[in-house]
Amino acid sequence: MQKPQKKELIASVKGMHDLLGDDYAYVERVIKEVRRVSDYYGFSPITTPHLEKTELFERPLGAESDVVEKQMYSLRTKGGDRLTLRPEGTAPIMRAYFEHGMGSMPQPVKVFYGGSFFRHENPQAGRFREFHQAGVEVIGDDDAINDALVIRILVSAIQSLGLKDIMVNINTIGDKVCRPAFRKELINYYRKHQERVCKDCKRRIKENPLRLLDCKEEVCMQIAKHAPQMVDYACEFCKKHFAEVLEYLDESSIPYFLDSHMVRGFDYYGRTVFEIIPTDAGDGIVPQAIGGGGRYDDLAELMGARKTPAVGGALGAERVADLLRKKGIKARSETHPKIFLIQLGPAAKKKSLVLLEDLRKIGVPVMQTLAKDSLRAQLAIVSKLHIPIALIVGQKEALDGTVALRNMETGVQETIPTEKFIGTIKARLKEFS
Ligand code: HAM
Repeated sequence: MQKPQKKELIASVKGMHDLLGDDYAYVERVIKEVRRVSDYYGFSPITTPHLEKTELFERPLGAESDVVEKQMYSLRTKGGDRLTLRPEGTAPIMRAYFEHGMGSMPQPVKVFYGGSFFRHENPQAGRFREFHQAGVEVIGDDDAINDALVIRILVSAIQSLGLKDIMVNINTIGDKVCRPAFRKELINYYRKHQERVCKDCKRRIKENPLRLLDCKEEVCMQIAKHAPQMVDYACEFCKKHFAEVLEYLDESSIPYFLDSHMVRGFDYYGRTVFEIIPTDAGDGIVPQAIGGGGRYDDLAELMGARKTPAVGGALGAERVADLLRKKGIKARSETHPKIFLIQLGPAAKKKSLVLLEDLRKIGVPVMQTLAKDSLRAQLAIVSKLHIPIALIVGQKEALDGTVALRNMETGVQETIPTEKFIGTIKARLKEFS
């Protein structure tokens, strides 16, 4: 007779994680902070579907980009549609902008988003296959103040979470007018070094020369040091725009570093590009960007829509969370409830839900273990948690509509009639604040 096979528990997918406990709280806190700051600046929240048509990403991100080439989770439906789990949020938001006629709203349209994104990368520290971003996009205006505003919002969110040691690495990659001359010079320069560059860069010379500049292989980094720089090829228009962005950052006291080699990974970018980097990652550690973004004035046209200037950026929530953890910054502001509700007997148990709702409505946090019935078990928890006030509802209190309030430090107990319940609770809480 065949032995029954032991069933293996099905595990989560490699590089994708359940978020619970503190991990959940950290990611939520980062997203909420970007939401809070962007709210202040008049941004409206938007969510887009997790699945989009594959072609939404192919041209805008670039057929030779790492994401399109190797990292998209794509599928074909039974009906033959090609769909992709969103690897980033900017192209979907531009799609939504046109689909909902946002072009006829007052410009620019300013939106906030937060949620999951998917890239089939090699999982490692700070790199996942499902991760969370919180981002902002400003669509419909090319004024440099928008570029500075996007950076201001992301930096303010990071700073108000408690992280101070960050730098904005910034560059201009020119526009359709001036970038071709730069590309040509770059190809000429790298052809002279093609024997020495890494395997990927050999391919990049033909397919994606701009990405040669930010290769992280040691030999390629050495070669990049003397490569032509975009700022020297930028047209007057792009130069002026970039100078204005920097002036706004200066005025706003945002720390930045002119990184002439930064190009970013997607084809839709033009002119301003930036990344936010922690400056205290430790010796010998190449810091990972905790956020990035830039201007994408050509994205709309790449999608087949009319030219629409735009700029945006996003934070990687897990990466910011990791820094918060390393700095000992708590995921949640701890509110230790000062009241514990003890209930004894079936009538009291029923009443406890009403009492808890009354207290919730006036914003008073209360601890309870409604499923425990014994007085001793509940009191043990009160003293373990050092909660100073116990509200006790027994059979008697449930019947005559009162609640007993015990000061756990003095042991003094008083009976509160229903009509005085809220007032007395507020007064006693003040004594412990
Ligand atoms: P991105 O630089 O690809 O830009 O991603 C933004 C941030 O998401 C990164 O700086 C990083 O912190 C985080 N991130 C990216 N990939 C991963 C991963 N595999 N695991 C964990 N975190 C990751 C964009 O996605 C653009 N859509 C940003 C933008 C908005 N540009 C204009 N508007």
